[in-house]
Amino acid sequence: MQGSKIALMLVAVVAIGIFALPSTMSVFSGQHTWYDISGGDVPCVKCHADKYEELSMTEVHSSFARGDASGACYVCHRADLDISYANAGDGRATPGGNSHAASTIACMACHEYEAHVRDNNQGPFAGGFEQPYGSPFTYTGEVSIDSGSPQKGSVGPPQKGSVGTPQEENIISDGDHAVHNAYVQSAVDSDLMVDSNEACIACHTAIPMEIDWSRAYAMRSQSVVDSLGDWTVEQLGAIGTSSVTTYSDGYGDDASTTKPYVDYDMTQSVPSRGGGGVDWLQPP
Ligand code: HEC
Ligand code: HEC
Ligand code: HEC
Ligand code: HEC
Repeated sequence: MQGSKIALMLVAVVAIGIFALPSTMSVFSGQHTWYDISGGDVPCVKCHADKYEELSMTEVHSSFARGDASGACYVCHRADLDISYANAGDGRATPGGNSHAASTIACMACHEYEAHVRDNNQGPFAGGFEQPYGSPFTYTGEVSIDSGSPQKGSVGPPQKGSVGTPQEENIISDGDHAVHNAYVQSAVDSDLMVDSNEACIACHTAIPMEIDWSRAYAMRSQSVVDSLGDWTVEQLGAIGTSSVTTYSDGYGDDASTTKPYVDYDMTQSVPSRGGGGVDWLQPP
């Protein structure tokens, strides 16, 4: 009885030795080779190779590549002038303040009116939207464009006024005709991403999109003619809703829409039933 207990304890001690001891030894190779961060960088691509692959697919932002796989990541994810990042590049070690390696960034940090970001990496002003409420970035401003030079990518003979006569033209960029102001505003209001990134990314990148659309189903107007044949036409508005869901994989290969779902109450509008309470015009 006593002997078998001791034997059992011995087995337990040996078992602990086998399983516990190796954990006190180094298990991963390479863990004592540090990256030289005084000029070289921590390779973001080691863990985010998918982002690097995506970025390599177009020319946009290709000017950020600095010859190493992480250069482009650094330019955007360490661009914010209001954030202090950990830094060893200039020979001394500076600890990060609000961020160590990287932070998220608003597209508009670089594409706002008179953008001001690290290392002069601001991009062209993405003007033509109204100023959304609650955004710290400037969406509107007065821009001076060179209307004389041929547009990038234009084909055929130069347009009138484009040869040798560079003309400066000042335009007010206030987006008062933009059809996507509500889209940008909702992106600013959303916590999904920084500022209006949802809208910029939705349009400018190959991210798949699904949208539920709900629009008015029918137009409603009234036309009354007087005895001389002069018509008075009143636009009374819209009735019912028609809803569809659209989806695309981001490359347009698989763009589809559902059949419209119509929500429309006939009794609201059939005139013989009283016109749904609308103020009918009285013949003049
Ligand atoms: C050792 C692997 C590793 C390296 C190296 C690394 N990351 Fe990350 N990164 C992660 C992980 C894991 C997450 C998600 C978890 C988290 O947020 O901590 C992440 C999250 C992120 C996010 C998303 C933050 C968000 O709010 O959605 C960004 C942006 C990012 N990393 C950028 C970078 C950049 C730029 C570099 C290079 C300076 C880098 N990472 C280096 C592992 C890494
Ligand atoms: C670090 C600053 C920076 C950030 C952040 C940034 N951009 Fe840019 N962007 C630039 C610069 C600089 C250029 C021009 C040089 C280039 O394309 O390499 C540019 C070019 C572009 C162009 C091409 C313009 C043209 O004339 O062809 C588009 C589109 C664009 N950016 C959209 C975006 C979107 C969308 C985001 C957010 C997801 C974003 N950018 C974030 C700096 C930035
Ligand atoms: C043109 C600027 C730009 C460049 C260059 C760029 N990013 Fe980003 N990245 C963004 C923006 C903008 C977001 C969205 C941030 C947000 O959540 O609002 C983002 C989001 C991310 C995320 C989180 C989203 C996700 O899907 O997990 C990771 C991780 C990331 N970037 C890593 C990288 C790495 C790694 C590189 C370099 C290969 C890189 N980024 C280069 C602008 C950039
Ligand atoms: C509704 C889709 C849509 C949205 C939302 C959108 N863009 Fe654009 N963007 C376009 C189109 C279309 C062009 C012109 C492309 C062309 O020249 O054919 C453009 C052009 C640009 C250009 C180059 C011309 C310029 O203005 O300097 C930049 C930079 C740019 N967008 C950045 C952004 C940023 C940043 C956001 C987020 C605030 C954004 N875009 C939101 C569709 C969109």
